[in-house]
Amino acid sequence: MSRIERFAKRVSIKESSLRTRMLDIAAGLKDVIALGRGDPDLDTPAHIIEAGQKALGAGATHYTHPLGMPQLREAIATSIKANGGGDYTSDEIVVTSGAQESMFVAMLALIDPDDEVIMPSPGYNSYHQAVELAEGKTVAVPTFEKDGFALTAEAVEKVLTPKSRMICLINPSNPTGMVIPPSEIEKLAALAVKHDLIVISDEIYARLVYDNARVQPVAALPGMKERTITIDGFSKAYAMTGWRVGYFAGPRTLVKAMAEIHHGLAICAPAVSQHAALAALTGPQDSVEAARREYDSRRVVMMAALDRMGLSYAKPNGAFYVYANVSSTGLSASDFCLKLLEEGRVMMFPGSLFGDHCDDYVRISLLQPVPRVEEAARRMASVVAGLKAQKLTKSA
Ligand SMILES: Cc1ncc(COP(=O)(O)O)c(C=O)c1O
Repeated sequence: MSRIERFAKRVSIKESSLRTRMLDIAAGLKDVIALGRGDPDLDTPAHIIEAGQKALGAGATHYTHPLGMPQLREAIATSIKANGGGDYTSDEIVVTSGAQESMFVAMLALIDPDDEVIMPSPGYNSYHQAVELAEGKTVAVPTFEKDGFALTAEAVEKVLTPKSRMICLINPSNPTGMVIPPSEIEKLAALAVKHDLIVISDEIYARLVYDNARVQPVAALPGMKERTITIDGFSKAYAMTGWRVGYFAGPRTLVKAMAEIHHGLAICAPAVSQHAALAALTGPQDSVEAARREYDSRRVVMMAALDRMGLSYAKPNGAFYVYANVSSTGLSASDFCLKLLEEGRVMMFPGSLFGDHCDDYVRISLLQPVPRVEEAARRMASVVAGLKAQKLTKSA
């Protein structure tokens, strides 16, 4: 092998090729209904786009302050507080290129080789990659449909070792859509204090909750601000994925080191997007409520369809995903997703892409209008019925 073909040891090229394979198959098909990616189909609200356009016209084409525009950081601090979160000053907040950058900054700044990071399984896969790049070790805690996929303090306590350094909470969860009950968050926080652990609390879906669910911001709990990094962003609640703007908030002591890494990686988040984010936070919030209601309608439609198909799931009360168990079809979730794409022209991803400990679940992103969700459900029902009939014939 030539010397140039060698990768750094920290790079592991996995068989995550399933996603690529599915996207390739979809490219060759007509009228595929995309319920795969977590990218809202709704448009960024007009007043936010306008603020971005205005900012560009006014010369927002330069680097900003590395931590982010001061007026944006102040607006973020106000918004965190207004939504029941911790008390932050603007030097405890760093604006990043999407929440995605925040998670890599957190791991690179806070994780040493062999430090253990406790993570729910399934969970948002980029956290695994961030830990890997920091040469830490992910300790996966399996969560189960029968418990509503909740990560419990009891399960976390069982995996603690002297090397445990951090707990990652994704609340509401991607991919399961579950909100961790506030009482459980309190127990997890107490565990973090007892064992002197850092908590990452990814609350990017916190404003998209249903059935009166409530997300308890970790940093607002007693003794938690000093050990919590809250990660959040604008992509989901304001349909701003392409703007690439998010943030983290934490205690000054940790933020100082994280800000250095952020500067090295990105210098600053895009200036135009910071202006748009400022308009998002300070402008009318009715678009967030309208989006929440829209996702809720889609969720209700999909849950009813799954009930009719006889596929089980834990009723999601946050984000915009339903995590459904397809094992009764006789296929693994990975094979099911391929079959559904090829035969039903519906794209969804198997839980294995989210570090699930089993290959039984598919993540259904509710990111198409209700009539398309209904059509996707019809196509899925037909594929499921075919598979179940085949299974019966085989076992007869
Ligand atoms: C839990 C979670 N955190 C962070 C992100 C990344 O968001 P952003 O677009 O702000 O980088 C995602 C994207 O799907 C996510 O699901």
